[in-house]
Amino acid sequence: MKIIDFDVYRDLLKEKSGLCLSPDKGYLLESRLGPLAKEHGFENLSAMTVALQGVPNAALVNDIVEAMTTNETSFFRDMRPFDIFKDTVMAHMKTARAGQRKLRIWCAAAASGQEPYTLAILLNEMKPQMPGWDVQIVATDISRDVLELARAGTYSQFEVQRGMPITLLMKYFTQVEDKWKINDEIKSYIKYDYFNLLDPMSRLGRFDIIFCRNVLIYFDQETKGMVLNNMSNLIEKDGYMFLGGAETVIGITDQFVAAPDKRGLYVLPDGPHIEKKDATSSQALA
Ligand SMILES: C[S@@+](CC[C@H](N)C(=O)[O-])C[C@H]1O[C@@H](n2cnc3c(N)ncnc32)[C@H](O)[C@@H]1O
Repeated sequence: MKIIDFDVYRDLLKEKSGLCLSPDKGYLLESRLGPLAKEHGFENLSAMTVALQGVPNAALVNDIVEAMTTNETSFFRDMRPFDIFKDTVMAHMKTARAGQRKLRIWCAAAASGQEPYTLAILLNEMKPQMPGWDVQIVATDISRDVLELARAGTYSQFEVQRGMPITLLMKYFTQVEDKWKINDEIKSYIKYDYFNLLDPMSRLGRFDIIFCRNVLIYFDQETKGMVLNNMSNLIEKDGYMFLGGAETVIGITDQFVAAPDKRGLYVLPDGPHIEKKDATSSQALA
């Protein structure tokens, strides 16, 4: 790939989506944007670069951003965060929000919906212990293509096999030919919306819990810091935030701190106190 082409796409993607491309990612640009250039009627990638340097066409820019997003996801991805969600976060929220019986959760990079549907299923399983609660999941993504898939809530056998326990599959999905369609009851927990994490966040309102998993890895340190600082302004004082296994706040922001012994879970510096496992066991021994 020509250096000039690489520089144009690198700068455009950083500005529009936060995606940070290292110089060794030329092959990725070529493999994803080559076919897109053809679809848009350009002879090759360089011809599309020239067009972008003129008056940029918003639809083309949008398609370039879409083509470069990585939408990898699965139901119950990594499992452990969902145990922490049930056993630590919801245990706290059931008591802390017992008065208002309202909960707002933001799934900030929802991809094709497996993560918000996993949360909705878990919340529905807790429904008998939370009668009359109003629980809303706001699920957003920068890719309109994946949001469409998420709204449809229809998955292949392969997709449900990647993480969805058979009992929950039978309980919450209906088989339609060779696909599995999620039930309306589960869908009703979730409101899907387009949202770019680089944009001002206040229009989204406040949240008790934020899931922002496996998206910050694509951003540079400065962008990660900006996104996390903005999120710290949206989250309730005793709120919780989840990041992906390869992500952290350490060295990026002091607006969140890692919860001890709960990998992937973060709270505000003056947020809820989470007992360290070691502290409990040493107390128990004393
Ligand atoms: C790898 S998926 C993660 C999905 C899910 N959170 C998980 O952990 O399984 C990353 C998602 O982030 C989205 N994304 C990338 N840049 C974004 C941005 N600037 N704003 C919002 N979403 C973005 C992508 O479209 C993609 O769907």
